This record gives sequence, C-alpha cells and structure tokens, in this order.
Amino acid sequence: MGTILNMSTIISAILYQILVIQLLLNMCSAKEVPAIFAFGDSLYEVGNNFYLDTLAKPTLPNGIDFTKGKRRASGRYTNARTILDIIGKPRLLSIVLNIKNELGFTNYTPPYLSPQTTGDVILKGVNYASSGSGIFNSTGSKFGDHICMDEPINNFEKSRQDIVSKIGAAAARKLFKRCTLLYGNRVYNLDARKIAVTSAAPLGCIPFERDKFSIDDCVPHVNELAKLYNVRLKILLSELTKHLAGSIFIYMNSYTTLEDVLQNYKSYGFMNADSACCRVYGKHGGKLPCIFYARVCPNRTQYVFWDAYHPTEKANFILAKHALDGSRQYISPINIRQLANS
Ligand SMILES: *[C@@H]1O[C@H](CO)[C@@H](O)[C@H](O)[C@H]1NC(C)=O
Ligand SMILES: *[C@@H]1O[C@H](CO)[C@@H](O)[C@H](O)[C@H]1NC(C)=O
Repeated sequence: MGTILNMSTIISAILYQILVIQLLLNMCSAKEVPAIFAFGDSLYEVGNNFYLDTLAKPTLPNGIDFTKGKRRASGRYTNARTILDIIGKPRLLSIVLNIKNELGFTNYTPPYLSPQTTGDVILKGVNYASSGSGIFNSTGSKFGDHICMDEPINNFEKSRQDIVSKIGAAAARKLFKRCTLLYGNRVYNLDARKIAVTSAAPLGCIPFERDKFSIDDCVPHVNELAKLYNVRLKILLSELTKHLAGSIFIYMNSYTTLEDVLQNYKSYGFMNADSACCRVYGKHGGKLPCIFYARVCPNRTQYVFWDAYHPTEKANFILAKHALDGSRQYISPINIRQLANS
C-alpha cells in the first residue's frame, strides 16, 4: 500500500475533482449462492446517496432510460445501466458464473443503505458504492455526506455478520472464500479472495476537465496523473496476489478501454466523444452536473459521455464487455469470465 499512499497528494487532487475511480468488484460463488459485492463511487452507485445528507444525488434526468416508459430516478449516474449492472445482468451472470437460470439474479445488486436491503436479499450481494466517495476521507466532502473508504469495508463486515447468522459460519466462509478485495488485508481477513479493481480512466478527456481547462482535446497533465496512478496500482495488485495466499487481484484497465473508445468512437457507432449528453452549461457541457433543468440529447446512443463525468450506458456496455472477455491489454492477468470460472 505504501507506494500508493506516497502519491496521496496527486491522487487526492484527481479524486477530489472527479468523484470517480476506485471500484471494487467482488464476485463470489458458493454452490447455491452467487453474489456480487461492489465498492466504488458514482460510477458504480445504485442509490446509496438517496439515504445520505448530500447534494450529490442521482436524480432525474439520470436514469432516464433505465425503466423504459417510466420516469423514475434509478440511483445511477448514467442514462441507464452501469458497468456493474451489465456484468451482473441476470442472463449474462448465469453465463459468467455458470449457474442455472433459476439461481440467477432476478434483480440488480441493491444499495446497502436501502431499508429493503435486508433478509435473504443480502445473500445475493450488496452494493456499497457512494458517489463522492474515494480512497481518502476528504474526497467528495464538498458535496456533504458520503460513504468514506473505510466505511464500505465496515459495512461489508456487517453484511458478512448478517450472512453468517443466516446461513452459518461454514456456508458464509464458502460464500466469501473465493472472493473479494481491496484495502488488502482487511477484506482478505473477511474471507474475500477474488478481487477486481478498476484503473483510473483517461480523466483528462471527460467534459468536466475539457471545460475546466478550456481546451477541446484531452487535458494531457490530468491523463499523465491517471497513468502514474495506474502504474503503481498494477504493481500493488500483483504484490497483493503474491503475498495473500489464495487470492487473486485483477487489474481492469479502463484507461486503455476508454482511450480506445474515444479514439475510434465512430467505428463504435458514436457521433460525439467530447461532450456531455445531459448538459447545463460549458462548451462541452462540463461545467455543471446533470440536474433537473439540464438539456438531454435526444439519442443517447450517439454519445460516449452521459454527463460531465460519467459514460453513457452504451459506453458502459463496451467497458463491461472488455472486462468480461477482454484480452490482457484490457484486463489482467485474467478477465472476469475467467475469474468467475476459476
Ligand atoms: C477516515 O475516517 C475514519 C473515521 O473518522 C477514521 O477512523 C480513519 O482512520 C480515516 N481514514 C483515513 C485514511 O484518514
Ligand atoms: C440513434 O443514433 C444511432 C447512431 O447514430 C442510430 O443508429 C439510431 O437509428 C438513432 N436512433 C434514433 C431513434 O434516431
């Protein structure tokens, strides 16, 4: 962890502005119980912030395409599904985990803070992501409450205890055994073994940064910081795999994936790769978040960016696909499908 922490100033500079980045995706599969436990910020949030005292809430027009025909906030910072929703999609997940359909997910992984996330629901996984959260307590604090990085792990521990009391220690151990997570030893000690961690994306390319620095291209020094962070992250993950017996830490290279999409956006069927679809103000729509009086582009599939910070569902789909089945250039040492089958 030392290598990462030494870069704290740099990283917090990135994180503070961007609300993004660190994801923890854990896929666990015991015999009868497949489960996903997800950690992260607004890229992976499914509505925890509705239960916190914060300005950062994913209200409409966020989620505009999530429930077709019904205008209802989905708790997500994109027009429809997040990467996690796509990877954990019932049908896709059945393939990934090689489980029978009737044991597959019928719902998306629910937010930890929802009062409905109790009982047997938690056996299928929980989402702890909160927008504005980051690897430092201070990340995102300008928006009000958020779940700090230590807290999701505490919450995970609470869920784990609930699961133990439901199905017994032996079954719970089995459930978590081949799973989980970052922040190294702590989650490892909670029996997590399969951990996928996303890299920083080419953050210099998001509409927010383009408008902040008033340039049309990607902002080079922001991308350099992201790359620097990624080099250290990749080393850290392979060290964790080496030192924590029986664990595997996977590096999801969202930098390369998104860069590829941005450079070849036309061949992916996009028409716009530099501006926000949901926009209020700024040349690239990057000056303000997507809020109720924003203008939304009529055809969401033409845009890489949904708002100042986040990809559209179509871009998320490409990112998810690369994480699931990508070659080592996009995810290493193995992809999510191989992880689930390992
Ligand atoms: C974050 O805050 C918690 C609770 O206030 C504290 O226990 C923890 O040490 C802090 N973590 C860091 C990295 O400052
Ligand atoms: C949206 O844009 C895509 C890509 O340009 C196009 O194929 C599709 O027909 C458009 N959909 C509508 C409803 O206009």
